[in-house]
Amino acid sequence: MKLLVLGAGAVGSLLAARLSAAGHPVELVARPDHADAIRARGLRVVGTSPGTFHPSALDDLAEAAPPDAVLLTVKTFDLASASGRLARRFPRLPPTLLPQNGLGIERTVEAAIRASAGEDAEAVLVRASNSIPVTLVGPGVVRQAGVGEIVLRDPASGGPARDAAALFVTLLDRAGIPVRLVDDLERELWRKALINAAINPVTALHRVPNGRLLELPYREEATGLLREAQRAAALAGFEFSDREADADFERVARATAENRSSMLQDRDRGRPTEVDAISGEILRVAVAQGVDLPRTRAVVERLRATVGAARTEPS
Ligand code: PAF
Repeated sequence: MKLLVLGAGAVGSLLAARLSAAGHPVELVARPDHADAIRARGLRVVGTSPGTFHPSALDDLAEAAPPDAVLLTVKTFDLASASGRLARRFPRLPPTLLPQNGLGIERTVEAAIRASAGEDAEAVLVRASNSIPVTLVGPGVVRQAGVGEIVLRDPASGGPARDAAALFVTLLDRAGIPVRLVDDLERELWRKALINAAINPVTALHRVPNGRLLELPYREEATGLLREAQRAAALAGFEFSDREADADFERVARATAENRSSMLQDRDRGRPTEVDAISGEILRVAVAQGVDLPRTRAVVERLRATVGAARTEPS
């Protein structure tokens, strides 16, 4: 099965490595320095299940062969433009996995595909919640810092993308990537969004690893954001008790204590962050129902203002 991974950040590179090790021809579209390093020395995974893997690294989507499945692993701020390019290159899109953090991801991708190729992609887009802790260390090298899992909607629960979902269940499972199937993926996506809304902005603003959020004053700031995110989730129809939300926060902060969150990694690189797809979407849901979330609004504004200033600004 020919696979295309579009987006060679930490998650995309790791998935390309694991899927190529399972025997699939994998093409990974990467930035030139990362692609050159992979072509020269292979793609090295350090940490959990280490090794050197050999997906073919491409500089450009135009070089990609028609794939049987796509893993669209670009960051949320590149999602609309990458989806449009993908749909123009392959108008009959094969099953496509969307493992991004954040909310409203399918809406963005579907709209971009419809605008670029005039196609309705509902039956091929497979949304997933991903918790594999991984960092891009440098060109050609990623670090996996624990096990994690990919959560997918159980194909047996139906829906237009059930065949596409079944394909990814098999692919990921055979590549040794832990997969969990749920009937209510929306609730899982909100659960992940709550965790990201509490952890990512605070780690990015203060430039601290996830584990520091278990200590004051960061814990208080993270909990304030978590409560606001729970409020938005409830407005969207997903109730999370304080006990459940706190337990999730605590578990993830402990399990990923040494990690720099993805939002902090983006800030370190001077790239835009995913704050709009996480805290911005949470705020949008609440405001649409007449509720303001002042702490969430404040972090969205502060993080938007850090873009481009990341390398020089003190924490
Ligand atoms: O975005 C991230 O960094 C991750 O989703 C998480 C779970 C917060 C761990 O760092």
